[in-house]
Amino acid sequence: MTIGFIGTGEITKAVVTGLSTIDGEKPDILISPRNAEIAGALSESFGNVSIADSNQAVIDGADTVCLALRPKDAEAIISDLTFGPDHHVISFMATFGREKIERIVAPARKVTLVTPLPAVAFHGWPTPVFPPDEEIVALFSKLGTAVAVESEDEYQALCVATATLAGAFGYYETIADWLAAKNVPADKARTFSGAVFYSLAATARNAPEHSFTALTRESATRGGTNEQVLAHLKEEGVYRALSKAMDGIWDRFEDAKS
Ligand SMILES: NC(=O)c1ccc[n+]([C@@H]2O[C@H](COP(=O)([O-])OP(=O)(O)OC[C@H]3O[C@@H](n4cnc5c(N)ncnc54)[C@H](OP(=O)(O)O)[C@@H]3O)[C@@H](O)[C@H]2O)c1
Repeated sequence: MTIGFIGTGEITKAVVTGLSTIDGEKPDILISPRNAEIAGALSESFGNVSIADSNQAVIDGADTVCLALRPKDAEAIISDLTFGPDHHVISFMATFGREKIERIVAPARKVTLVTPLPAVAFHGWPTPVFPPDEEIVALFSKLGTAVAVESEDEYQALCVATATLAGAFGYYETIADWLAAKNVPADKARTFSGAVFYSLAATARNAPEHSFTALTRESATRGGTNEQVLAHLKEEGVYRALSKAMDGIWDRFEDAKS
């Protein structure tokens, strides 16, 4: 398998790094020349990565082609390229629906949508794959886990959830900033908040049989400080705001997908 990438930016850097650091045989990878700095660094770091002369040369030299362009540029750039009927096209572009990608890469018939995030670089992200093509599920399983998705609505909903990551970091940033304001040294506040974040994630991951409702209940001792903070956040509408923000992303995807 030769995997090509059109658009060598942040997410291509992460996926190529992840694929080039798996145990065992690495796939051959062909990347587009722009961005020159990232392309140069990837080909210098990894023996399985080459830079093609142009976007079309990526397509001509690969059987599987990943699209990783910014949504506003993508349609015009891709429409200028020629795919063959046997190319397998993988789109990372969350706002583009499958039908739209199929239209712009025709006559290529096989299109799979995947949503990697930068943690694929260290094999630490659950990548949604729709439809759950066996080869692509196996490929992204090597970069963490692959989440096989059976319907486009389910895929879109999981993509919406990936829009909450910066907000989650913002939550821990607020805690770290508050600690620093109470004269906890800033680096200690950052390390402590990060360790709490990590420990909570591990708690949820290690007990998949516990719902988040159960974990919330277990953490909020009756009359205790966690119960007080949870009640305050609810009263202030913090969780309602998060749900509404996710509705907004869903609507944005609906508007952009075709
Ligand atoms: N970043 C993420 O965590 C993430 C996660 C999942 C999905 N995605 C999706 O993946 C796509 C790319 O995101 P990104 O964060 O990687 O964006 P990015 O860092 O801005 O990368 C886009 C790349 O496309 C290059 N490019 C621009 N015009 C081009 C052209 N005519 N031909 C070839 N390449 C061209 C850009 O080069 P220049 O730098 O020279 O302009 C840049 O390197 C987006 O649709 C995004 O929604 C991103």
